[in-house]
Amino acid sequence: MTIPEIEAAYRFDDGAGYERFMGRWSRAAGKVFLEWIAPPPGARWLDVGCGTGSFTKLIVDTCSPASVVAIDPEQAQIDHARNDRVADRAHFKVGDARVLPFTDCTFDIVASGLVLNFIPDPARALSEMIRVARRGGAVGGYVWDFAAERSPSWPLRLGLRQLGASVAPTPGAENTGLTALKTLFERAGLEGVVTSSIDVTMRFANFDDFWATQTPSFNPVAKKIAELEMSERTRLIDAVRAKVLLADGTVEYSARAHAVSGQVPG
Ligand SMILES: C[S@@+](CC[C@H](N)C(=O)[O-])C[C@H]1O[C@@H](n2cnc3c(N)ncnc32)[C@H](O)[C@@H]1O
Repeated sequence: MTIPEIEAAYRFDDGAGYERFMGRWSRAAGKVFLEWIAPPPGARWLDVGCGTGSFTKLIVDTCSPASVVAIDPEQAQIDHARNDRVADRAHFKVGDARVLPFTDCTFDIVASGLVLNFIPDPARALSEMIRVARRGGAVGGYVWDFAAERSPSWPLRLGLRQLGASVAPTPGAENTGLTALKTLFERAGLEGVVTSSIDVTMRFANFDDFWATQTPSFNPVAKKIAELEMSERTRLIDAVRAKVLLADGTVEYSARAHAVSGQVPG
């Protein structure tokens, strides 16, 4: 995909819709990521692509940071984050990962949750993340495994394909495999690069709850569903139900993220 195509495919311009859709998944994956990197207390953090602040909140609540700054290019996401209690303990700012508005060596830990694949030039973003981290500091992140179709939207994406509908690949999907992430981080000059898989299972009270929260209007998959004729939509719902509905009427399924972390050379 070209850069304009990537930017047009996904606009995170609905903070409340994003939070209903992804908040629960972000918290689940972010928790496992933070346990995995086991950060020291008292660190100065930068959260890149903070969205509505789900991952930021985990940093604040579980990592005893000295300070937390969080940036995202979408005003709607930042506005939503600033209205949450987390804004008392983290500084939210509009900004782009490719041109971070910070001086060199400002942070001990620079992390990014579920973002890197959406950035049109991830190598440039990573070099910026490294620039603003101190020598010996940590740079890391995690992305949904879009390459193997394991993101939270997989039941909908596979359901659409089953119907014969064409579903555009998620922006940057090719960069979400473990090997691709390791290569990206090593080429950027980080040392001791390690990767890990993060599996999270989510439960929804019923199918309506799943459908209402997981098809937000800004999402390209939801846009595709909105274009379906009523009969195709019914077939899609039946196909998705068969994948995720449990006998007790609840919905449960898993998604997988890939995590990567390395150290800035000292
Ligand atoms: C899937 S959301 C993840 C949000 C949050 N980190 C979380 O864990 O819920 C991806 C976020 O990346 C942001 N993003 C997209 N392009 C970006 C860029 N060039 N620099 C920084 N963030 C970007 C989007 O605005 C969006 O809020």
